Amino acid sequence: MRIAIGSDHAGYQLKRLIMDHLYKQGIACEDYGAPNGIDAASYVPFGQAVANAVISGAVDYGIAICGTGLGISMTTNKIKGIRAALCVNEYMARMARQHNNANVLALGARVVGPALACSIVDAFLAEDFEAGGRHQVRVDEMTRLENQNFKIDPEAQHD
Ligand code: RB5
Repeated sequence: MRIAIGSDHAGYQLKRLIMDHLYKQGIACEDYGAPNGIDAASYVPFGQAVANAVISGAVDYGIAICGTGLGISMTTNKIKGIRAALCVNEYMARMARQHNNANVLALGARVVGPALACSIVDAFLAEDFEAGGRHQVRVDEMTRLENQNFKIDPEAQHD
């Protein structure tokens, strides 16, 4: 499994911790910044980079972290094809995969502690989408809405 991970400065420490946590499980994590937790950094370019890695197929899932998880989840959800879920517990993470087929997990480093954050990541990565049933119908419905409203050529997002 390949993971793209990115954060702003507020999410930097948690990003490093999650990378270590996944490394110990043999899961490869590609770090899309920010480069450190010292210099104030907008969550937008790092969220965008994680989202583009997911959409391009370079990775299976993205993990996007900022202080609250709000800014970076909003950002990643601006990219066509991204279903980012901001989760504060394991139940939300499981449902985000099973019911919503989320492809990005967003976390708030100032909201959840490090141990809970790692459990949320594990729960998210352990679940599969319940494809073919009622949840598929709803996700397809979301995709239709997206196709009606996102007018940018998805190829252009990678430029
Ligand atoms: C940075 O101070 C903070 O605003 C950011 O990490 C995030 O919480 C925004 O949504």
